[in-house]
Amino acid sequence: DGTAVRGDRFSGGPARGFLSSLADDERIFAADVAVDRAHVVMLAEQGVVDDDTAAKILTALNVVEVEGHATLPEGEDVHEAIETAVVDQVGPDGGKMHTARSRNDEVATCIRYRLRGDLLAAAATVCDLRAVLLEAAEEHAGTTMPGFTHLQHAQPTTVGHYLLSYESALARDTERILDAFERVNRSPLGAAAFAGTPFDVDRERTAELLGFDEVITNATDAVAARDFLVESAAALAALSTTLSGLAEDVVLFANQGYLELSDDYSSTSSIMPQKKNPDTFELVRSVAGDASGSLTGLLTTLKGLPRAYNRDLQNATPHVWATVDAVTEATEVAAGGIATATWNAETLAAEAGSNFSTATGVADLLAMAGLPFRTAHEVVATAGQLASEAGTEPDYAIIDAAAEQVLDESIAAYVEREAVETALDPAASVTMRDSPGGPAPDAVAEALADAESCLTSD
Ligand code: ARG
Repeated sequence: DGTAVRGDRFSGGPARGFLSSLADDERIFAADVAVDRAHVVMLAEQGVVDDDTAAKILTALNVVEVEGHATLPEGEDVHEAIETAVVDQVGPDGGKMHTARSRNDEVATCIRYRLRGDLLAAAATVCDLRAVLLEAAEEHAGTTMPGFTHLQHAQPTTVGHYLLSYESALARDTERILDAFERVNRSPLGAAAFAGTPFDVDRERTAELLGFDEVITNATDAVAARDFLVESAAALAALSTTLSGLAEDVVLFANQGYLELSDDYSSTSSIMPQKKNPDTFELVRSVAGDASGSLTGLLTTLKGLPRAYNRDLQNATPHVWATVDAVTEATEVAAGGIATATWNAETLAAEAGSNFSTATGVADLLAMAGLPFRTAHEVVATAGQLASEAGTEPDYAIIDAAAEQVLDESIAAYVEREAVETALDPAASVTMRDSPGGPAPDAVAEALADAESCLTSD
């Protein structure tokens, strides 16, 4: 039979294993069966293959599907192996399955078909994580915590506001994945090797049977394009970078006692019996390294490839499978870890005002009373210095002394004592910052409502 002849001529010799993608192709086994079915149905509808032969091929494909990837005959790839299995059952007429197509359009279709599902699953997992963050944000909308820049205490904020910041980033990660999905969801099938076919194929029909939104018309572009892999891997790498920042914070927060991970998401030491380590989040953090490595590997493999099909493309695909699996799993673990973690509200509140983190709020207060902000900044900076020289925390008296030093007048000329004392209180400092997107309870409540409706529509 034809397959055997081809097999005899190009056995691959010692390089056969090197050439073969059969093991990696398990990922697209079900996709290839679906693509074969759609193609055969279309060929029969178009009168290219008679109904009787088409029925025999479809029956053989059912057997192939049930027996599974593991029982396929040898082949350079899953496409060749399935064709061989069909010919083994149907006889030489089984070879009509490959009329008017090439493995080039076939593999591109299979990858897109499978990746669609993987991207949707990844996006759903990101939505699960967002739901976990929103639930915790709602619970801790009023829990004050220290906010950091440069890892230094900066301004008091709330756990709710902090968590919403990641939910908002993950909403964009969701958008990017769904945006990539739209361009993945286009059908190359019917392009043949790269240059079309004399058979009267109905490319719209196979696209429809396989659930693709549209056809990639130019036959050469259809088989050569792998930019859909690039943008999928890039969206996932961006997501993994978001996750890595969240994971890093969790590791730091666990270290500070701000948050306690459940035992399920912790690890211990083989020697130090007292240890409870945030290993899960360290691994979540590490996935960004793999994802960016895969994206780089993919781009480098694709760079400078000539038109139209080159076997290099076979090595491009596994980067994306590895990335989507690792990033989806990391997203799931992050969701579970955060859902089961306990925020230590007392420790967080006690540290919320550390290192004069209310200083900006005091300067804002003075600026609201009419002092130029830069001057207010100087007064409060001077208060900070006086306090640290005296080894105390800044209070009204110290701020007043600073005003005398900088402005030659009492702070009472601008603000009342009570207002200064309020600004020095971390919780009140948070409440003051009620600008849109700020941490004040009303602003957070509004952000929560917006985020919830956006999540529902995603
Ligand atoms: N297994 C190949 C791939 O993944 C498809 C085969 C196309 N082979 C060829 N020699 N044109 O890209």
